[in-house]
Amino acid sequence: MTAGSVWASGRVEAILAGLSIDEKASLTVGSGAWHTIPLPAAGVGRVKVTDGPTGARGDGRSGASAICFPVGVSLGASWSTDLLAQVGAALAEEARTKGAHVLLGPTVNMQRTPIGGRNFECYAEDPLLTARLAVAFVQGLQGAGIGASIKHFVGNDTELDRHEVSVEIDERTLREVSLLPFERAVAEADPWTVMAAYNRVNGETATASRRLLTGILKEEWGWPGMVVSDWGAVKDTVSTALAGCDLEMPGPVGWLGPRLADAVRAGDVPEEVLDDLARRVLHLAERAGRLDDAGEPPERADDDPGRRALARRAAIEGTVLLRNDGVLPFDRDRLERVALIGPNVSSFMVQGGGSSQVLPHGDIVGPLDALRASLGDGVEVIHEPGCTNHKFAHSVPPEQWRGGVATDRPSASSLVVAARLEDAPVAVELYDGLELDGDPARTWQADGITTTFFGRVRGLADQSSFSGRFTATYLPVATGVHSFGLSAVGRSRLFVDGVEVIDSWTDPQPGDTFYANGSAELRAGVELEEGVPVEVVAELATDPASTVQGIRVGIDPPEPADLLDRAVAAAADADVVVVVVGTTGEWETEGNDRDDIALPGRQAELVEAVAAVNDRTVVVVNAGSPVDMDWVEGVGAALQVWFGGQEMGPALADMLLGHAEPGGRLPHTIPARLADHPAASSYPGSGGRLVYEEGLLTGHRWYDARGIEPRFPFGHGLSYTTFEWGDATLSVADGSVDTPQVSVTVPLANTGDREGSEVVQLYVRPPDGAGRPQAELKAFAKATLAPGEADDVVLDLDRVAFRTWDVASGTWVVHPGTYEAIVGASSRDLRSSVSVELGG
Ligand code: BGC
Repeated sequence: MTAGSVWASGRVEAILAGLSIDEKASLTVGSGAWHTIPLPAAGVGRVKVTDGPTGARGDGRSGASAICFPVGVSLGASWSTDLLAQVGAALAEEARTKGAHVLLGPTVNMQRTPIGGRNFECYAEDPLLTARLAVAFVQGLQGAGIGASIKHFVGNDTELDRHEVSVEIDERTLREVSLLPFERAVAEADPWTVMAAYNRVNGETATASRRLLTGILKEEWGWPGMVVSDWGAVKDTVSTALAGCDLEMPGPVGWLGPRLADAVRAGDVPEEVLDDLARRVLHLAERAGRLDDAGEPPERADDDPGRRALARRAAIEGTVLLRNDGVLPFDRDRLERVALIGPNVSSFMVQGGGSSQVLPHGDIVGPLDALRASLGDGVEVIHEPGCTNHKFAHSVPPEQWRGGVATDRPSASSLVVAARLEDAPVAVELYDGLELDGDPARTWQADGITTTFFGRVRGLADQSSFSGRFTATYLPVATGVHSFGLSAVGRSRLFVDGVEVIDSWTDPQPGDTFYANGSAELRAGVELEEGVPVEVVAELATDPASTVQGIRVGIDPPEPADLLDRAVAAAADADVVVVVVGTTGEWETEGNDRDDIALPGRQAELVEAVAAVNDRTVVVVNAGSPVDMDWVEGVGAALQVWFGGQEMGPALADMLLGHAEPGGRLPHTIPARLADHPAASSYPGSGGRLVYEEGLLTGHRWYDARGIEPRFPFGHGLSYTTFEWGDATLSVADGSVDTPQVSVTVPLANTGDREGSEVVQLYVRPPDGAGRPQAELKAFAKATLAPGEADDVVLDLDRVAFRTWDVASGTWVVHPGTYEAIVGASSRDLRSSVSVELGG
């Protein structure tokens, strides 16, 4: 533990030497949701952190908007370290507008299954791709002065019972897969902080694992940074401190802080251990400039055109053209009528669900407005939803409370606290205690009933034990049975015109909302008449045991019986059809994994019916993880746009019309069936244990080893142009197993008539009998070439590319022998290979 004094500055050591046990311990727990505790007498200001990872939300209550970049999987699909570095640097600017010093990201867990709830936040199913992108992102972010919090350390690859589940990972898989992105980021980018995960690893709580936090991260890797717990992940005082978890979040009440001071005084935790925790928090404060400057600027929105342009470019670089039967790009001059179909046209998802959500700058321009703007006058764009796909009753857009008319404008976010506006339509009253008794402690007008409470709610005596009433007027736009949905953290009930229609008060059942802290959604059908307003009142009594509180009310108006038929008729009549299908942030969210990969609702049927009447049908998949695509061979083209950030709409129009080409390649395998994926037989495990039975055969390696044909392989993606690949050649600067240095060169030529990019992927096949996967991705490069341009793509391999973890010796080793370096355009589209001989 004394290693700390080697790297900490004299200034940090001097401050530390002057602190009492209580002061040092106070540094180990947050002051609230987003700050460390300052020590003004010692000149130590507070450090502010913000989520993360692809926007800088701030404290979530200032109302200051933030740029919403494409989510992690979209950035992963770019296969571009340049882009990741630029996004990192831009996020540093955004974090500064929120007065923050650390951005809570990147998320570098593995997309181990296609159904992981946070897959959209993670870059890839592959450890090397994740590692290279994470290094670039952290370098970009920290190079611009804001610290990273690379997360979640480690094995947080599922949302299934995430606070308790024990992921059982054998040592080689831990080293070569799960830890790899963290290890490379520590070695090459020195992240200021690492976030310890909720889950247990091989039985040990991640925040209390001395082996992981001190043994590997701090001692073996020699990392001088600060470990922060995931929010609410600490469950004990002594084991957490002894493990080396430096900062517990959130505060102010926690297992560390004053309780740790007591444990030190009681002799349960040596004072040197406390010193090391405090030293690391002070070191962070120094890096963040908090030993010099105590001021903290208020949060503000800075809608910077440069960052918007970067978000648009990123959305394009991450979009994967899965299939193209000559339909894309469209020729604008040959279009008179375009049909834009699908539920995600109006509920266009630009981000996933959970803590990564931000309130984006300005209104989101969805596909409809973007296409209309791009096509200009003279081309008619017809819109038909065709079906619905939401998981819970539809959130009511603000304009529909109090009788406005719903628009097709996508709502950016369902979980960000409802905006508090003077003239907003929903009256909110909060009461101290759980019984809605006496005068309200706090009232305001909000633009929706659905609200998440996280962190301090001003004006309340107890932040976790309160009740609330939400009152609004709903003006139906249709006659018939409306399905009301209600869920909440704690107890809730719903009244329509004074009549209780939903009782989730007497016996609320556990459900999926609010990071799985919420109750199961209950539904009630109520007959309403178009144009006749009704009063809707929702009441809430919180669950004092939960760190997040909230209520969700949705209303599904009666669905027209001919929704799908109308879409098919519109499609039959159009020159081209664009069908936007997918999931939503309710399906793909922190807190829950999905049950399957089926497109929710009648979307698959919709795609098939539309494609049957128009062979110029382009399907746009707006989802953060694989979805079932049984229909894909029957459509003209398919694009995977993920949750592409707030500029996704205009970016999509750019790509459809050929102003830009989709630059992405799949960062994960799209399986033909859910049952094919590597973890299928071991998920969801039993007895709270999730065994990584696939071992090193994660992602594409599994499909190769088992001879399973995927729907689309890892690394796949088409271009609007064509490329010719020459044979790979080898150059060996050092052929030793100790310090190998090898380059593989691939001549590449753009043989088409427009600019385009290609991602050259290098897979290494180890010597026979090495007990390793058939081929592992070890290097890649993205090349953008003008029409007719040719260039050599050079891929370098060093020891990290050849090494394997030797369990017996607990070290990395490189076995001598013949390795094959295979270059390809996907894991299944291999073009040429060279042999590399490494000797002793
Ligand atoms: C998430 C973290 C996030 C933190 C703070 C947790 O629920 O797992 O990724 O940074 O909340 O919002």
